[in-house]
Amino acid sequence: MTNREHFGSRAAVIMAMAGSAIGLGNIWRFPFIVGEYGGAAFILIYILCCFFLSLPILLSESIIGRRTHQNTFGAMSTLAPGTKWKWLGLLTIVTPIIILSYYSVVGGWSFAYLLKACSLQFNPENAEAVTGMFATFSSSAWGPLACLVVFLGLTALIIFSGVKKGIEKFSKISMPVLFILIVVIAVYSVTLPGAMDGVRYLVKPDFSKLSAGAFSAALGQSFFSLSLGVGTMLIYSSYIRKDENILASGTGTALFDMLFAILAGFAVMPAVFAAGIAPSSGPGLVFETLPYIFAKMGAGGQFLSSAVAILFFLTILVAALSSSISMMEVGVAYMVEEKGISRGKATAGIFFVALFLGILCSLSFGPISGVKFLGNTFFNACDKLCSNYLMTLGALMFSIFVGWKMDKASVHDELTNGGSLKGNSKVFPVLYFLIKYIAPLAIAAIFITGLLA
Ligand code: PHE
Repeated sequence: MTNREHFGSRAAVIMAMAGSAIGLGNIWRFPFIVGEYGGAAFILIYILCCFFLSLPILLSESIIGRRTHQNTFGAMSTLAPGTKWKWLGLLTIVTPIIILSYYSVVGGWSFAYLLKACSLQFNPENAEAVTGMFATFSSSAWGPLACLVVFLGLTALIIFSGVKKGIEKFSKISMPVLFILIVVIAVYSVTLPGAMDGVRYLVKPDFSKLSAGAFSAALGQSFFSLSLGVGTMLIYSSYIRKDENILASGTGTALFDMLFAILAGFAVMPAVFAAGIAPSSGPGLVFETLPYIFAKMGAGGQFLSSAVAILFFLTILVAALSSSISMMEVGVAYMVEEKGISRGKATAGIFFVALFLGILCSLSFGPISGVKFLGNTFFNACDKLCSNYLMTLGALMFSIFVGWKMDKASVHDELTNGGSLKGNSKVFPVLYFLIKYIAPLAIAAIFITGLLA
């Protein structure tokens, strides 16, 4: 594949991969999951999962992607020709499109909330009405749909611009900005009166609060947050040059993602405690609780709290976009490289499929909330299917593929650039052991206990 695009530098690789990783998973999902599972003790388990289970999966995807420089389907067909492994390639094209559809609904909400923050709707006079605003907004039909179209449209625009001019450029600008924004918001949150209880909640582990489901929740969260098991890290790695160190870029990505999640925890939790709200308020934490807090805080300094509200929803929107582009790229690369379709047409095709599913997801908060799949609304069914089953299945298969199907010499070759990266050669036995034995066994065990719980 001679005319394939590549990321320009190590920084570009890490920014793009971190861009995929850092998103709603960090800012919206992480704080409420931490809240549900009891704070600091859960964060510790989460960090362990990231290093010992998720990083090996990330490296497995990187090994396959960079080795073949192809899309997920092409990569599996090249490394295991004529086998059923190509189905894993196909699975990883379908799953990101489903995720893209419901993810874009939440992305659309963040756009709507950015507009609400800009028009100063979170003000002290409005405080009591603000919490109900979310239920009213999300269950209405046209507002969320319009925002869904805007969000998916922006995603398609970046993807249409290509790997270097679209993905790389957007990630290189947005990542540093996001880090600055989240630090500013965390500082604001931590300095609110009464915020220290929230800080304590995040740093002082109380292991008695850990429930049985905490391990599978931590693993699920870390897979979702690192975009694993769905081919996004594989496809981004396929744009990495042969002389780049994939262990360094993978580790850098995992560290940035973890750091960002923890900073998001500090941006959200102290404010929640300061307002005397239960940390276990669930998924509404960011769209109900925080706007309420912004409105309340407005009493002391309307300008400051409005500015923070705007920055906060801008952060969520940009972080969500840098992730949604990676979901779209998996399918686009497949259609361009395997089916010979132009990038423009492939992007438009995926835009419409995701829009169709996204419309159903969005309407399932209101007009079609009565339509249930095994007791779940369409949105929840898509989310559960992907984050509880398909992502875990994909991650498990990637580690089995690299650990058991690929030969050890090729894996070593890819992780050490033909033996030239001496440091990587030294840690190779540990990494290989994690990929071959620990990751698949632990993932299978946690998956099964999660099913039984
Ligand atoms: N990692 C992204 C986030 O944290 C979500 C994502 C999942 C992105 C799967 C790509 C693929 O928001």
